[in-house]
Amino acid sequence: MMAKRISVLNLKRMRERGEPITMLTAYDYPTAKMADEAGIPLILVGDTLGMVVLGYDSTIPVTVDDMIHHGKAVVRGAQRAHVVVDMPFGSYQGGWQDALKNATRILQETGCNSVKLEGGIRSAETVKYLVNAGIPVMGHIGLTPQSVNQLGGFRVQGKTPRDAVHLITDAKALAEAGAYAIVLELVPTALAQMITQRVSVPTIGIGAGPFCSGQVQVWHDILGMYDDLNPRHARRFAELGTEIRQAITTYRKQVEAGDFPTADESFYMDEHALELIKAQLPELDGDLSDAQRVLATHDYELVARASENVDELRATDAR
Ligand code: KIV
Repeated sequence: MMAKRISVLNLKRMRERGEPITMLTAYDYPTAKMADEAGIPLILVGDTLGMVVLGYDSTIPVTVDDMIHHGKAVVRGAQRAHVVVDMPFGSYQGGWQDALKNATRILQETGCNSVKLEGGIRSAETVKYLVNAGIPVMGHIGLTPQSVNQLGGFRVQGKTPRDAVHLITDAKALAEAGAYAIVLELVPTALAQMITQRVSVPTIGIGAGPFCSGQVQVWHDILGMYDDLNPRHARRFAELGTEIRQAITTYRKQVEAGDFPTADESFYMDEHALELIKAQLPELDGDLSDAQRVLATHDYELVARASENVDELRATDAR
């Protein structure tokens, strides 16, 4: 039986019960499937896609079509997790009409459960329209990577009293607009705790300390996929980059040394059938690889059947 998918209501209840919520990014079928199987309740198809999967140096080039393409694969891979898809740069900043059109596309074409967008007060009106249209929205404040050019880099936000008050006001505006949860990215621990205490919806931190309602991390960061992307807020729970490189190098070396594939990793055909083929095509010198080539250009079914009947094979080949 298919597991019941986690809803925004389940996430709200988790916050009320004080159960920490774990969110992880995923970008395709296998990553979503593994996250789901590991019991992750909330999967984010983040626009970090641009940086960790597509090789851009920011999230800005990512398009709605990119998010839909990857979102679809993630939804196919996750049976139980709530799947939230990021609205990429340019897909909602133009006003609620634009946002509604793009969020509708994302929801309809991927089958995801909610969308996420960046910005506090500046995005609150848009959040309200989407929520009124029945689209669950997750907010995202603190470091908002789509504004990296304005913020002057990937740096901690809310460190001055003025900036901290702005962030608290941003969080309240999003909660009042109906956001079901809010990501706090690169925010000092004490401020993240103050925000968490002041809003009624779950806060999900990344580089925001342990007092948020939950944590979100990027797949490639926690699995140690890259040596040159190693943010301080992430813990490397594995060193898969090194392991994968080692495995691939071993594969190459074994092919080059003739150690792969072995007999156990290969497939064979009926020797009688091979004899028949050789008899049909006397120009072949009996080399098995030549015979396999012949098989590739003939109707395999007929050749196999003909191994019981030489005449049938002759008749077939004569045609
Ligand atoms: O795009 C993303 O992966 C994110 C997380 C860093 C929260 O927004």
